[in-house]
Amino acid sequence: MLKLSTPHLGEEEITAVANVLRSGNLVQGKECEIFEEELASYLGIAEVVLVTSGTAALHLSLVSLGIGADDAVLVPNFSFVATANVVKLVGARPIFVDVDKANYNVTKESILDAINRYDGDENLRAIIPVHNFGCPADMTMIMELAEQYNLIVIEDAACAIGAEHNSSKVGVFGEVGCFSFHPRKIVTTGEGGAICTKNGVLADNLRLLRNHGIDRSQKAIDYVLAGYNYRMTDFQAAIGRVQLRKLSDALFKRRQLKTVYLEGLSEVEGISLPQNIVGHSWQTFMIALDENISRPEIIDYLRKNCFESAMGSQSMVSLKTYTEYFKSYMEKWNSLTLFKQGLALPFCEQYREGQLDRLVNLLKSYIQKI
Ligand SMILES: Cc1ncc(COP(=O)(O)O)c(C=O)c1O
Repeated sequence: MLKLSTPHLGEEEITAVANVLRSGNLVQGKECEIFEEELASYLGIAEVVLVTSGTAALHLSLVSLGIGADDAVLVPNFSFVATANVVKLVGARPIFVDVDKANYNVTKESILDAINRYDGDENLRAIIPVHNFGCPADMTMIMELAEQYNLIVIEDAACAIGAEHNSSKVGVFGEVGCFSFHPRKIVTTGEGGAICTKNGVLADNLRLLRNHGIDRSQKAIDYVLAGYNYRMTDFQAAIGRVQLRKLSDALFKRRQLKTVYLEGLSEVEGISLPQNIVGHSWQTFMIALDENISRPEIIDYLRKNCFESAMGSQSMVSLKTYTEYFKSYMEKWNSLTLFKQGLALPFCEQYREGQLDRLVNLLKSYIQKI
């Protein structure tokens, strides 16, 4: 079975973990410190704060920015559910925004539509643009709108380490950028996440919030606020450091490999391909099937032929947690169609062109028979 993706781990990661275990320093020590510095240098930003997951990164960002009850936050309606959950968890109101049908990211029109329709009592404080599947959102446009409407920008770059917009790494445009190191991501630490920011004061606050509010900056240790335990372990950071060294190579291979799907499926009727945007990291390769093609049947057919495939991402307003936000005008939204008809195909840097070619041929012959 060719899985959707396989973490690219080897002897180097195993040795790095073993070294940490032998050292006896397991939690947020030297490896975490160095991994933060290396990530900051890779991203080209002053501060990186490691945490336990991409969800923790988003949650801590909202808390540290003081977003809570009485606030509203713009959230794409096509993303992993964690993007909206963190808004709800801090007591704020998510305002859902539709996405483009080809690059799966928010657009100027969809953001303005959501802003103009918003009639709630809360203060519209922030926007969380998602770089969906590694496709860089148009941060130039988003930063302009954010300035115009006085919105704080929290980039959800969970899937997008290494992706670029105008030759800068995504994550560095907003007030904060959040990354995930889940095994489906190009850099993994098992579970793990990171927040990057240019703002040193905010970074200090994030570090306090990550570790029970413990302040060691003065002579005597003090507990200065009610924080969380979102600390990463040193053995996770040690894996992350090895993974980060492999990132450029992984991106190069993914950018080459994606042409097998883009070219092989380009003429196939009934399939829409993702837009080939400069700077895309291709963390996931998702196509959209026409409405007359049954996704469960294709998934089943591919599974019988030893290929794993799955839905791509969620439309929040279609989920039980967020049904209260569903409005009839959303029925025509691209995000609802992508939720129903999006199909993620096996994709990662270790896969060979021949394997993906075989899948392309299977899809072609299946669709021709419909
Ligand atoms: C867009 C997006 N945001 C947030 C998350 C949450 O990251 P994590 O699983 O590390 O908590 C994910 C995870 O897949 C994601 O895809």
